[in-house]
Amino acid sequence: LGDEMYNILDDALKKKYAVPQFNMNGLIWLESILKTGEKCGAPVIVGTTDKIVDQLGGFNLLAQTFKVMKEELEITAPVVLHLDHGQKIERCFQAIDAGYDSVMYDGSKLPIEENVENTKKVVDYAHAQGVTVEAEVGSVGGTEDGVYSDLLYASLNECIQLVKNTGINSLAPALGSVHGKYKGEPNLGFKEMEELRSFVDIPFVLHGASGISDTELQKTISYGHAKINYNTELNISWSKALRNKLTEDTELYNPMEILKPSKEALNSTIEEIIQRTGAWKQA
Ligand code: 13P
Ligand code: ZN
Ligand code: NA
Repeated sequence: LGDEMYNILDDALKKKYAVPQFNMNGLIWLESILKTGEKCGAPVIVGTTDKIVDQLGGFNLLAQTFKVMKEELEITAPVVLHLDHGQKIERCFQAIDAGYDSVMYDGSKLPIEENVENTKKVVDYAHAQGVTVEAEVGSVGGTEDGVYSDLLYASLNECIQLVKNTGINSLAPALGSVHGKYKGEPNLGFKEMEELRSFVDIPFVLHGASGISDTELQKTISYGHAKINYNTELNISWSKALRNKLTEDTELYNPMEILKPSKEALNSTIEEIIQRTGAWKQA
């Protein structure tokens, strides 16, 4: 695999930092992720959840927009377009056909045998086209894409089974993280991470990173998390700024004026996360 995602995660794992994945919820997000990544000299991953793909116009539109925007903005730092929580094998195939660099197949709700079987199909298809694959074991708690899941810690054996039998490039072991806001303090399974690391050497992916403290984040990185996913934190700062602007000037109707502070809020939140994960100047 001469692939960009493979290279950036490999470098991060070796140098003990993490590449942030920022989920996009509109063109403004994409522009902000690409520009800020370039400004910080950081590798970044643009995540599109399965549902957002359709809400934003489909795989082809997103893959082409990504490509054109990257060229127009003259981005030189490594950037990767990734399908986040692909719910079906076919969805992953569609993303790959459209030109995505990387896909996540999320079979975490299935029995492990079925998860392995389906993930393997995605890996075979993806690797033939130089596309990397992430897969999940256990269950990240909370709500994403309007889908609620109970938190379920990944089993060590199932993680090993999935990695050994599929050839995936990265593993998301659900070990206490939650999509969206945390109710109370996060309860991350550091012992489990450490143990898993002694059996599995591919990069780990941390989902539900919004709401996790700096200290905990550094620990997850030390146990081999090389990709860390952020969605909620961006959306909170975006909506806060937007809400302020609209209440501050109730007569305002120029969309670009209205969106200016929320764009700036996105930029600064992304920059702050790039520093936090250690991806700053790693491009
Ligand atoms: P948060 O929304 O908690 O940041 O989680 C993001 C995520 O895991 C995307 O897959
Ligand atoms: Zn996730
Ligand atoms: Na979270």
